[in-house]
Amino acid sequence: MIRLENVTKVYPETVSVDNLSLHLEPGEFYGLLGPNGAGKTTTIRMITALTSPTKGRISVNGCRVHRNETRFKAELGLVPQHVNLEPELTVTENLRLHAMLHGMPPGQTLKRIEELLAFADLEEKAAAVVNTLSGGMKRKVLIIRALMHNPRVLLLDEPTVGLDVFTRRKVWDLLKSLNAKGITILLTTHYLEEAEKLCSRIGLLKKGGLIMEGSPDELAGVVGPVVVERFSNERTNLSFFNSRPEALEYASTLQEEFTVRQTRLEDVFVRLTEERVSA
Ligand SMILES: Nc1ncnc2c1ncn2[C@@H]1O[C@H](COP(=O)(O)OP(=O)(O)O)[C@@H](O)[C@H]1O
Ligand SMILES: [Mg+2]
Repeated sequence: MIRLENVTKVYPETVSVDNLSLHLEPGEFYGLLGPNGAGKTTTIRMITALTSPTKGRISVNGCRVHRNETRFKAELGLVPQHVNLEPELTVTENLRLHAMLHGMPPGQTLKRIEELLAFADLEEKAAAVVNTLSGGMKRKVLIIRALMHNPRVLLLDEPTVGLDVFTRRKVWDLLKSLNAKGITILLTTHYLEEAEKLCSRIGLLKKGGLIMEGSPDELAGVVGPVVVERFSNERTNLSFFNSRPEALEYASTLQEEFTVRQTRLEDVFVRLTEERVSA
């Protein structure tokens, strides 16, 4: 569905994406996970032809991604990192504008808008000026705007940053139901919990390169399913084990405070990037 082959993006000061190969199957929910500056946004911008790779090839459903091609654009819906709705237009006007830019037949537009407003529980906000909406509602409008032209792939760049816990969960539910309807999703996030909850497959990105890829369980399995967390010298140290008895045997030798628990995705990330990622 989405294929990146040896893609590199070089800016004058930085190598933003470094020989990245990714392959998403139809219907997948893929999470691209990495700290700030890892290259997540650059990757999404290249997939949508907002910027072109320095090297490598990208295709969407067999169509080459290139700024002069239009075929692949019909397949993609983009939810950008920053809210870029027209602030002085209403929700409906924003959606209509998007439909126009995508060349949707005017006859279909109104029905599609009603459908999507109902889907996102935003019917009451149809005539509200975007400026007057909460952050969470703007996010939801961004998501349904991306869906207006019925794309088969949805790309979301850190869709829940800045949302309260309650609204974040609502956005998660929206995304889960879209994926259940067969829409392929590529989501970038630095929230490990988000990736763990939503994604069937996760790629860990560090300095523009993929350092690991797999299901959340597979990633946790790479370091060991049980972890002993020790607190000493105001630092947390992690040791990984294949079984609970092994972990407990090791823990019984410790002088300092410790906990024995299941490995979480965050632990894998800490181990593999030696860098704590937090909300
Ligand atoms: N337009 C640009 N010009 C120069 N450097 C850029 C540009 N866009 C991104 N970068 C650099 O590329 C790296 C990756 O950025 P980005 O893709 O935004 O990471 P992320 O989305 O994972 O936080 C960063 O070091 C960033 O400073
Ligand atoms: Mg980004």
